[in-house]
Amino acid sequence: MRAVLVANPKGGAGKTTLATNLSGYFANQGKVTTLCDLDRQQSALRWMAFRDPALAALSGYYAGNQIVLNLPKEADWVVVDAPAGLQGYKLTDYIRAVDKVVVPLVPSVFDMAATEDFLNSIRSEIRGQRTKVGIVAMRVDPRTKAAGMLEEFLKHFDIPIVAYLRNTQNYVNVAAAGATVFDPPRAKHRREVAQWEPLVDWLEK
Ligand SMILES: Nc1ncnc2c1ncn2[C@@H]1O[C@H](COP(=O)(O)OP(=O)(O)O)[C@@H](O)[C@H]1O
Ligand SMILES: [Mg+2]
Repeated sequence: MRAVLVANPKGGAGKTTLATNLSGYFANQGKVTTLCDLDRQQSALRWMAFRDPALAALSGYYAGNQIVLNLPKEADWVVVDAPAGLQGYKLTDYIRAVDKVVVPLVPSVFDMAATEDFLNSIRSEIRGQRTKVGIVAMRVDPRTKAAGMLEEFLKHFDIPIVAYLRNTQNYVNVAAAGATVFDPPRAKHRREVAQWEPLVDWLEK
């Protein structure tokens, strides 16, 4: 079993979008995939309830009420969708339970400011541990000024940007059907699938 935590203290950063699509990616690769929802709002589980049973199978459960995070060992991949405001002992516990931490980050001054303390905490938590952390630049074109601003900001933390995902309604539309950009008709989302490649390579490494 391998596990990835998707976390950012700010609401609307793209955690559930990343977590659901990542689950869809692994499921479509034929992996036994479980989505662990830690958010009281349970957006990821609600999304899953809309999923067509003909699509690649996914299982999911709510674990926001567990004192210590227990992940299902029988899964190939567990994708953990964190709630907003995650910090302190829970953050420490969750980081210890996973192999990778992915932080979606929108390049706006508000989002970057809200994430600064979180990135500092993560960096000290993973020191001397096997867990790796990477940023997903969310809703951004890599050639823009916004992307440059994000890269400049991240220099202080020594955390790599592992993917850039553009701003597109495709994510909103597939989510409404309990689907992901990796579910058929996949050709419709060729651009999205290509943008995820460096992220999934980094995760599987
Ligand atoms: N790359 C994107 N392009 C367009 N809309 C996006 C993108 N990523 C996220 N969104 C939208 O932004 C909103 C917040 O995303 P969500 O994944 O729910 O964030 P979080 O779980 O961090 O609160 C959702 O409506 C989602 O559909
Ligand atoms: Mg969410």
